[in-house]
Amino acid sequence: MADTIVQRFQGKVALVTGGASGMGAESSIRLAREGAAVAVVGLPDDPRGDDVVQQITDAGGQAIYVGADVSREADCDAAAQAAVDAFGRIDLCIAAAGILHADYVSGEVSEADLTPDRSAGYIINKPVEYWEKVLSVNMTGVMLTNRAAARRMIAHGDGGSIVNISSGAAKIPMPGNAEYSVSKTGVWMLTRVLALELAPHNIRVNTVAPGVIDTPMAMALSQDEARRAAFERFVPLGRLGEAEDIAEASLFLLSDQAGYITGQILHPDGGIFTG
Ligand SMILES: NC(=O)c1ccc[n+]([C@@H]2O[C@H](COP(=O)([O-])OP(=O)(O)OC[C@H]3O[C@@H](n4cnc5c(N)ncnc54)[C@H](O)[C@@H]3O)[C@@H](O)[C@H]2O)c1
Repeated sequence: MADTIVQRFQGKVALVTGGASGMGAESSIRLAREGAAVAVVGLPDDPRGDDVVQQITDAGGQAIYVGADVSREADCDAAAQAAVDAFGRIDLCIAAAGILHADYVSGEVSEADLTPDRSAGYIINKPVEYWEKVLSVNMTGVMLTNRAAARRMIAHGDGGSIVNISSGAAKIPMPGNAEYSVSKTGVWMLTRVLALELAPHNIRVNTVAPGVIDTPMAMALSQDEARRAAFERFVPLGRLGEAEDIAEASLFLLSDQAGYITGQILHPDGGIFTG
């Protein structure tokens, strides 16, 4: 018997940042499979974005790729407007765009990912531009994305649902990468504030805070077999997470099944940040 896919998002339109790769790409594909039309948002000229759209349209879904730098207000507005121009409205939003550090390039392993000496990244040693860059993408970018989407949800008046991708680093301090931890804690608080501000419009806002997930961001770990095996011994469920694990958690929070849940944080992390 053929699998029947539940169509939780039939007739809905989704805006997904970080959509060219990793969790954002997987979430876009799954949203489309369940009936949503998806504006896949990523850095301009990221070739992976077209692949995601192609996968969606080949499977019979609807998607467009929109190039935008989420740290720029005009780009976030243009991306949200592109979704409305293409599909008529926005109902759902996942803000997954993010960087691990100021030199992070998704899909590449940098020196900073490999060095065992974290002290170069300590606050007392680091250029302030590093701090500003990470906060501008990971925190300001989420705020700009959220409000560009929320304004359009308010315009149609049928409510909506937003999921912001934070991190276990919001809970556990990361020496040598304060700006990442601070940005992800900021996303958590931003989510809670927005949940209250947008509740009168029936717009729910929640956070997903992943553990360590096998995406381009964790490449330095996942490609080194010995390091990966050593790390996995610390995960109570015994494995790295997959982009699918995060997409499933995000889609649950976006869906009507989570219709009474807002301002919350969900930790799909295999239990690693539980203790
Ligand atoms: N992989 C992990 O272990 C892990 C753990 C916890 C949280 N996260 C968070 O998950 C989210 C998704 O990351 P991922 O793991 O899928 O890695 P990823 O590198 O595949 O995804 C991040 C995406 O954001 C895009 N991006 C970066 N800067 C941008 C900008 N200024 N404007 C627009 N897009 C930009 C990248 O090009 C990339 O497509 C990030 O917010 C990350 O911080 C990842």
